[in-house]
Amino acid sequence: MTSISIDRKLPEGFFEASLRADVIAGLTATPKSLPPKWFYDELGSELFDKITRLDEYYPTRAEREILTAASAEIAAVTRATTLVELGSGTADKTGLLLDALHALGSLRLYVPVDVSESALVTAASRMLDRYRGRRGVLGGRPPEPALRVRAVLSDFTAELGLPAGDGPRLVAFLGGTIGNMLPAERAAFLAGLRQQLRAGDALLLGTDLVKDPALLVAAYDDSAGVTAEFNKNILRVLNAELGADFDLDEFEHVALWNAQAEWIEMRLRSASDQAVRLPAVGLRVHFSAGEEMRTEVSAKFRRAGVTAELAAAGLELARWWTDEEGRFGLSLSVPR
Ligand code: SAH
Ligand code: TRP
Repeated sequence: MTSISIDRKLPEGFFEASLRADVIAGLTATPKSLPPKWFYDELGSELFDKITRLDEYYPTRAEREILTAASAEIAAVTRATTLVELGSGTADKTGLLLDALHALGSLRLYVPVDVSESALVTAASRMLDRYRGRRGVLGGRPPEPALRVRAVLSDFTAELGLPAGDGPRLVAFLGGTIGNMLPAERAAFLAGLRQQLRAGDALLLGTDLVKDPALLVAAYDDSAGVTAEFNKNILRVLNAELGADFDLDEFEHVALWNAQAEWIEMRLRSASDQAVRLPAVGLRVHFSAGEEMRTEVSAKFRRAGVTAELAAAGLELARWWTDEEGRFGLSLSVPR
């Protein structure tokens, strides 16, 4: 048994306050929307893990294929001593990167950063277990553990949790999660990240690519209904955290391809004319039958667009990989 200690980067009450502010802003707007970070309570993180194993959800497999082929090169190019992983989730693919950095002898510290405490505990214990028994320093000195892990509970849009560290840092942002931000949010996020990077640091960014809309929609509307459950979980979170009375059976999961914006949009459609009470924020919200509330976008990219967004933030593309079928892109960029 390992006990995982979690570093809380944000002030006490930050999450409670930002949930309330997001819910008030989103549910009083027209059209209504909710930001996707609130999907990920314990059940939400579990459902997401299930999604990554669905036949229809190709991004995880495609990104793992790229990491399997490219991790040694990523390690050789970055020689990172610290791997910071934003939105780590349960860090299912991260062992590939850590092993490559460890084989090179540079790795010291792994820092998973996530809003989900349960996902962080899984990520941290998985990596500690993976490196138990391995040793970093050989020779006359007493052995030190091959890997230290510092789990950071944070909202990466507010606080990145980058440790100062003493060598090159590699910041990994995998899974296409950057696509869950709107374009202006992405620009602000990348510029803020760039400001905290030093010469020698690097960003490893996973981006899902534009492809046949039928394949895209299937990835966000699977036949087993796991993604539908996941989408509705945001209502469960509001019920639990704000004492709301959303009836999950009165909402339907919708996934559609927005060809102009080149993103998948996830929505919840009200099955009936209904009112929902959210006592903790003093709201009573009306939904008409058929009304749709956006819960997430998942933008799909092209290489030129990724290069341009990185450049606009002061980051220069150094390497670009895709899986064999060209479904998913992984870029390595460095401060310019
Ligand atoms: N990197 C993993 C998980 C991707 S799912 C993979 O590639 O499979 C997105 C992850 O980002 C979830 O674990 C979620 O809890 C986390 N997340 C979403 N918004 C966040 C935010 N604003 N700050 C920190 N973590 C966030
Ligand atoms: N980063 C993931 C993605 O955009 C998150 C995700 C996958 C997701 N499936 C989802 C979010 C379904 C909400 C609903 O691919």
